[in-house]
Amino acid sequence: MTDNNGVRTLPLRTDEDVVRMRQAVREQMIALGFSLIDQTKIVTAASELARNTLRYGGGGEGHLERVQNGMRQGLSLAFSDQGPGIPDIELALRDGYTSGGGMGLGLSGAKRLSDEFDITTAVGAGTTVKIVKWKPF
Ligand SMILES: Nc1ncnc2c1ncn2[C@@H]1O[C@H](COP(=O)(O)OP(=O)(O)OP(=O)(O)O)[C@@H](O)[C@H]1O
Ligand SMILES: [Mg+2]
Repeated sequence: MTDNNGVRTLPLRTDEDVVRMRQAVREQMIALGFSLIDQTKIVTAASELARNTLRYGGGGEGHLERVQNGMRQGLSLAFSDQGPGIPDIELALRDGYTSGGGMGLGLSGAKRLSDEFDITTAVGAGTTVKIVKWKPF
């Protein structure tokens, strides 16, 4: 479902869903006129966050939305699940920290690749990670 603000919510339950999320992010980045470098940065960040939603959150959904701040346009992405939550956000953001045999670079990498980065989480209730990329003038 897409409206003229590019608002879209996609399920994140399978690896194929992650591929679809990546494609939807790429499409929106292109539609907004982002550079190829910025497209790749945000597709990479989205991929890491969507994989976390699957792997640690037990699945959830991805939300895409075009945002505006004055004259500035951007893309906002949110990844939410109702999984176990993140007990220590600072630790989870540390380069190399993993609780699941990964490389521990997904969250920290996504943060570096984005202009805004926000984690909302509650143990036992779930996690939402939101990122925004603003288009340079
Ligand atoms: N949605 C989530 N729900 C619960 N815990 C999460 C979630 N996302 C991340 N985490 C926790 O944060 C840790 C760090 O995540 P990060 O993506 O940086 O590394 P990783 O997924 O373990 O490895 P990599 O992404 O490099 O393969 C995870 O190991 C996990 O403990
Ligand atoms: Mg990860």
